[in-house]
Amino acid sequence: MRLLISVVVSVLVLAATAATSDRVVETLTGAVRGRLVRDLNVTYYAYLGIPYAEAPTGQLRFKPPVPKKPWNGTLDATAYGPVCPQDDTFYKRSEMSEDCLSLNVYVPARSALAPTPVLVYVHSGELTMLSGRPFILGPQFYMKYGVLLVTMNYRLGALGFLSVQTEDAAGNAALKDILLALQWVKRHIAQFGGDPDNVTLGGESAGAVLVQYLTLSERSTNLFQKASMISGSALGYRFFNRHPINTAFDLGKKIGYQTKDPNELVRKLQDADVFDIVTAQGDKTNKRNGFRPFAPFTPVAETPSPHAVITQHPLQIVKQGIPQNVPIIAGIMMREGIKMLPFIRRNPILALNLNEDFELCIPSDIEYPYGSRESKDLANSIKQFYFNNETISITTLLNFVNLVTDTQFAYSTDRWIEIYKNMPNSDRVYYYVFDFDGDLNWYKLFSLTPFPGASHADQTGYMFVTNTTRPLLPIAGADSKQTIQVVLQLWSNFIKYGNPSRLTSLTCNIREEWSDCGTQRNYLALNNRPYMVPGPPLRRRLHFWRQVYAQYDSYVARGGGLEAKTP
Ligand SMILES: *[C@@H]1O[C@H](CO)[C@@H](O)[C@H](O)[C@H]1NC(C)=O
Ligand SMILES: *[C@@H]1O[C@H](CO)[C@@H](O)[C@H](O)[C@H]1NC(C)=O
Ligand SMILES: *[C@@H]1O[C@H](CO)[C@@H](O)[C@H](O)[C@H]1NC(C)=O
Ligand SMILES: *[C@@H]1O[C@H](CO)[C@@H](O)[C@H](O)[C@H]1NC(C)=O
Ligand SMILES: *[C@@H]1O[C@H](CO)[C@@H](O)[C@H](O)[C@H]1NC(C)=O
Repeated sequence: MRLLISVVVSVLVLAATAATSDRVVETLTGAVRGRLVRDLNVTYYAYLGIPYAEAPTGQLRFKPPVPKKPWNGTLDATAYGPVCPQDDTFYKRSEMSEDCLSLNVYVPARSALAPTPVLVYVHSGELTMLSGRPFILGPQFYMKYGVLLVTMNYRLGALGFLSVQTEDAAGNAALKDILLALQWVKRHIAQFGGDPDNVTLGGESAGAVLVQYLTLSERSTNLFQKASMISGSALGYRFFNRHPINTAFDLGKKIGYQTKDPNELVRKLQDADVFDIVTAQGDKTNKRNGFRPFAPFTPVAETPSPHAVITQHPLQIVKQGIPQNVPIIAGIMMREGIKMLPFIRRNPILALNLNEDFELCIPSDIEYPYGSRESKDLANSIKQFYFNNETISITTLLNFVNLVTDTQFAYSTDRWIEIYKNMPNSDRVYYYVFDFDGDLNWYKLFSLTPFPGASHADQTGYMFVTNTTRPLLPIAGADSKQTIQVVLQLWSNFIKYGNPSRLTSLTCNIREEWSDCGTQRNYLALNNRPYMVPGPPLRRRLHFWRQVYAQYDSYVARGGGLEAKTP
């Protein structure tokens, strides 16, 4: 329908006077018409909602995406496409459709470099929420710094990650969506003025996790030349499912399917109403996982096939050498764990549950059976190390924040960097810890959480124009404005030249070179006046987890009993 209308409209536009603010780009699948935008003192072309895959519905649900077939006429690319089905936290159901696999291209009207270097950005949202729309991904800063930005939608939740390890539902469909979007960029971005050989793949939170998965896959060779991962690692225990078939059958049970046959399960799920799936996957009633904001549907190790993205646990792959050996920016926020404080505030019972049973603090990739001596001992040592044997309360919130920071973000990031940098041929890793607390810390503003330090997702406000921070931009203090300059200067240099410190200027307070972290894992303390710090970061705390995991590994090697935890 949209196509038909656009054909009619474009004929009318041609018949009248061609609007000078429109620009039509020919792609291999058909023409798209974008629009010139002037906003926040920058001018750029926006091409919105370009479909890169056929609707993944019916028999195509859970399957690898099928490239979009060519269309006739000119596609009206001046409005965002529908967002992928999800709960209604951010969007109304009327904005959602399973036919959601589209991408958005933003091209600076003026760029010093031609062709223009490209940032392909994978959105966040715990693998279940959000989209490529500009709610937290407003492109204006990148336009000002001469970087072409591409954002895309990928399938979420069960629709993006369900796996029963068969050909019909092999898993990692969402990663295959992003791969197809990258292939689209490779083939088409020159038409938009972009450089197909200067592509940086970037993401934050769950987006960073998916970016890292793609660095671990042979299938993304030649599709990007640099990567940026902010607050997320594929090694994080929340982002790999060791028991995907159980998770799939649990979903079926919640919808009311009795079958034990995976093929029948997939057929029924392909026929299900999409919002029955969305509702069932959102059920978080299990007390044992109540405190961990799990997305039960996550990447998996696939059975080998030509479509498989990865076939092993990410840690195994890292130990063998990362297939996409490219320069990488990787970092965390100093107090990632602030992100859990609103959950406790809204629901104090969560903290009570933990105080009653500290075993619930154990990351789910440590599968000591509940109640076993090993599990109880570990719970006690967590309590002692992080809380001095006290309980979680208003006076120990920082202790709790640190525990979440380390288990959910810091350890998994530091771990892969440690392994990777100790390999002989590893490429550069620009490691950092963001510790700026200013006027635009996105998560704290969005969730109304006044707590000192940089929370998970707080860097967003210094990287993108967001709905929450936009009205604050004119009144933000000098330090906050400087932080935007520092972050954009470093990232845009990296995107253009593969080196964040190239051409930095004293005017934006970058006095020191941000160098490769090396085996020492030296890192940049990132704020409005960044400086290098000898690594590794959070040394004493991360050492604790290194020992915990070493002990667990030897327990497993000795044949110790395991108990699957969800997911
Ligand atoms: C736009 O530019 C004008 C003039 O240089 C300046 O006063 C204003 O603050 C700028 N606005 C933004 C949003 O940068
Ligand atoms: C495009 O137009 C041609 C010629 O009119 C027609 O044969 C073809 O089916 C059309 N394709 C689509 C996708 O509408
Ligand atoms: C963000 O702001 C835009 C423009 O005001 C609005 O259309 C959109 O609905 C907002 N998004 C969300 C998720 O609130
Ligand atoms: C915490 O409690 C354990 C036993 O419950 C005890 O062995 C340990 O010494 C205590 N640690 C502190 C710091 O009080
Ligand atoms: C773009 O990438 C190519 C190869 O990856 C590199 O040789 C070239 O220097 C890059 N261009 C710029 C402007 O950095």
